[in-house]
Amino acid sequence: MRVTVLNGPNLNLLGTREPEVYGRATLADVESLVRAEAGALGVEVRWLQSNHEGALIDAVQELPTTADGAIVNAGAYSHTSLALRDALLAVRLPFVEVHLSNVFARDEARRRSVLADIALGVIAGFGPQSYLLGLRALHARLANA
Ligand code: DQA
Repeated sequence: MRVTVLNGPNLNLLGTREPEVYGRATLADVESLVRAEAGALGVEVRWLQSNHEGALIDAVQELPTTADGAIVNAGAYSHTSLALRDALLAVRLPFVEVHLSNVFARDEARRRSVLADIALGVIAGFGPQSYLLGLRALHARLANA
């Protein structure tokens, strides 16, 4: 099983970025945790991060040939990007939306996601664990498909 983890803008700054909101783990720390969990599940992981909407869309368009499913933390684009939504709709690949912070307990603009209704589900608020929970959920769903 092949899973791509797609990380959006500013997630490369994890560790120093608003640590009171996002914690002290770096994106490399999150990647290590995900790769360890993926190894235990027998999942092959492709890990991507981009600050650019178009690059994220290009990555989504490649998913049908490179992955069976995806974990998507699109950062602020989760709340705004109809283009990313359209790309995910176009490829029809099962994905789980994840967030480190509990976006539903934050400011109004973050309570809405333009990706949530087309995701298998949304996991938010558990820090790096959100990715692991998302990976387990996606793995279970793909294994039973
Ligand atoms: C985030 C939440 C978004 O609102 C924010 O723009 C991010 C990170 C999270 O993982 O909690 O960049 O996706």
